[in-house]
Amino acid sequence: MNFDERIERRNTHCVKYSQAKTAQRPEDALVMTLADMDLPCCPAIQQAIVERAAHPFYGYQQFDEVLPERVCAWAKARSMANLDPRTIQITPSVNTAIALCLRALTQPGDGILIQNPSYSPFRKVAALNQRRCVINELIQKGDHYELDLADFEAKLSEVRMFILCSPHNPTSKVFSPQELEAMLSLCRKHQVLVIADEIHADWVYGTMTAASALDPGVMTILSPSKTFNLQGMQCSFLFIPDPAQAQAMKRECDALAYMNNQTFSHAAALAAYSEAGAAWLAEAKAYVQENARVFSRLLSAAGVPLKPMRLESTFLLWVDCRGCCKNDADVVDLFENRCHLYGSTGSHYQTDFPFIRLNIAVPRSVIEEAAERLIRALSVR
Ligand SMILES: Cc1ncc(COP(=O)(O)O)c(C=O)c1O
Repeated sequence: MNFDERIERRNTHCVKYSQAKTAQRPEDALVMTLADMDLPCCPAIQQAIVERAAHPFYGYQQFDEVLPERVCAWAKARSMANLDPRTIQITPSVNTAIALCLRALTQPGDGILIQNPSYSPFRKVAALNQRRCVINELIQKGDHYELDLADFEAKLSEVRMFILCSPHNPTSKVFSPQELEAMLSLCRKHQVLVIADEIHADWVYGTMTAASALDPGVMTILSPSKTFNLQGMQCSFLFIPDPAQAQAMKRECDALAYMNNQTFSHAAALAAYSEAGAAWLAEAKAYVQENARVFSRLLSAAGVPLKPMRLESTFLLWVDCRGCCKNDADVVDLFENRCHLYGSTGSHYQTDFPFIRLNIAVPRSVIEEAAERLIRALSVR
């Protein structure tokens, strides 16, 4: 694949570029905000969509029955996930699946545990459904984050559900099997439901253990959306092993008259979970990992006091800006005002520290330009 090419996405209804336009960002803006890659999709997926489009019927559509088995086998091979294809429920986006689970399996006023720095839609969905967010802080230790298990256990007494974000966005932390086991066994002890959002599971640079490998009772959500940049396909896979809970979830979907009638996502997902998909993914991950290395190398060679955290997973680089910024406003000033470089600053993730998350699934020249602008702005050459 040629990931070096800069393909124009402005004026294509792409949310992050449309947002940049609405906000009147400058022409030379480097947009590294939303987790939507600027790398072209796997050709086998594009071809499957084109072939499906050539058949002139776009009516009510059923998912192929081989798909659940494909998804489970794929996840088992990559993260030892222990998922039963018979328990799959096909949901639109991962965030919608989480919202549906909250509505089906918890009550207004119930506590929902999440870990800070946190992906903001978890908090938003909980709040808009009248659930209470309870926070367990991950603790920064040098270039990575660790668990505060004592606090985690203390918080479990006030919650009904834990949203486990594994791997973790925005820190890119991949939980070790020991860390997962510690959290899952405490949840069992306190009878707290666990929903494992494993949307980033395919995008790890080492090994990753799925929550279901350690506890077959947890609920899991998977999706090809982050793995293959298919967010526009609106397709995720929710596994609820407990029959009564699965039934409650089906009722919630029925109450909303939701049908998984997704013609193109069906074709795309089948093509994604394939040999061609796996080959594209390996290439894309290697490219992004090198982007992280190049960025870090350029900054550190120039003595820039910005510290990218260890990239364990995802294409999202979590950068510690404490070396030159006191707060979020300083980060905005440095990146946006002085460099025309747009990421998602720490406050989006409810952290008190000056951080920025940069989407580094971009052509290499964007990475080089971003580093160059930061070096120039900080005049540290
Ligand atoms: C942890 C996590 N969950 C869910 C989502 C959103 O997925 P979807 O677009 O399928 O709702 C994201 C997107 O970045 C994410 O990082």
